[in-house]
Parts: sequence; C-alpha cells; structure tokens
Amino acid sequence: MKSVRLIAWGAVLIVMAFVGFKMFMAPATTSSTTTTATSGGPGGPFALTTHSGKTVTDKDFLGKYMMVYFGYSYCPDVCPLELQKLTTALLDLEKEGFDTSPVQPLFISIDPARDTPEALQDYVPLFHPSLIGLTGSEDAVKAAANEYKVYYARRESDDVNEYLMDHLSVIFFMDQSGNYKQLFTAKHKPADIANALKPLLKKAA
Ligand code: NI
Repeated sequence: MKSVRLIAWGAVLIVMAFVGFKMFMAPATTSSTTTTATSGGPGGPFALTTHSGKTVTDKDFLGKYMMVYFGYSYCPDVCPLELQKLTTALLDLEKEGFDTSPVQPLFISIDPARDTPEALQDYVPLFHPSLIGLTGSEDAVKAAANEYKVYYARRESDDVNEYLMDHLSVIFFMDQSGNYKQLFTAKHKPADIANALKPLLKKAA
C-alpha cells in the first residue's frame, strides 16, 4: 500500500512539475513583442563530467543542437525508451543520408550517487554513438536540473543501493546558442524528432 501511494504521489509531483513548466513557458510564447533576449525558458549553464571523465560546461556545446535528457541508468523503463527514441531518430536521419554531427545528444544523470562516470561508460554506448553521459556532484546535478526546471527525487527504499528516482522525462531540443527550441515528451515518436531536425541538417558528403 505504502509504495502504491508513493508512486501515486510521485506521479502527481511529475504532473505538477510539468504543469508548472507549461505555465512558465506560456508568457514566452505570447509576449513576443517586448522580448528580444533569451526567453527565460528551460536551459542554462551547467558544469559536469562526461562518461569519459572529461569536465565540460554548456559552452563546450555551443554551435551544436543539444538534445538534453535528464534521467538515470538504473531506470527500469522510461529512460531507456526515451534514449532509444532519440537514437532511432538519429539513425533514421543517417539512413536518409543526413549528417547528424551538428546534433549533440546529452544524458544528464539525476542519480550521481550510482551514475559515476565509470558506471555511465557501461550504459551510454547502448545508445547512439554520439550520446554523451554527464554526471557530477549532487550540487552540480541539482544546478543543471534547476536550469532546465527538471523535477527529480529519490524514492524511499529500505536498501541504500536499490531505489528508484522520480523525474521529469522530456527531451529538450536546444538551438546552437543554447536556447530552448522545443521539447519532446512520451507522446512523440522518433519521426517527430527526425522531422524537427531535418531542416537544420545537410546531406553527408
Ligand atoms: Ni527514468
């Protein structure tokens, strides 16, 4: 019973986070006359460590179309599905002859206690070869998630190594200046992502 209620509460929190996010986004789309600078939408600075152990910041990805997903490698269902969706979109574009190198998929772990760079080295290669896994201190991960307005929380568990994380599951599509363009949720298909990217990509030489 307890776990069912926790799951229900987790779902409510995720929905609340998403609704709050939508409300936040609403003014940016309706007040186009007054703003010229950044919309204040999701996204912003981060400083994390890649699955290869390299320290990077958001600045390292300027010029790329970042596809940013927050999740964790122990996730039993949602994270692998979404990362596979992103992978399929990129592979389908490549099959059509597009050069996908301007696209940078990023997997930011919200479970850095278990998702060390070494642990991510076993997980990230299961998906598209260009995927970079990012992790860091609890504070660094929290700061990155806050910039993207991503909710996450560790579920209660008796076992310190066996626990689930609740988290917002969306793919953020960012432009080459690191500004928010669009997001993809569970309802989107690989073709939706591929179609959004296609006008921005060139055929491979
Ligand atoms: Ni997940």
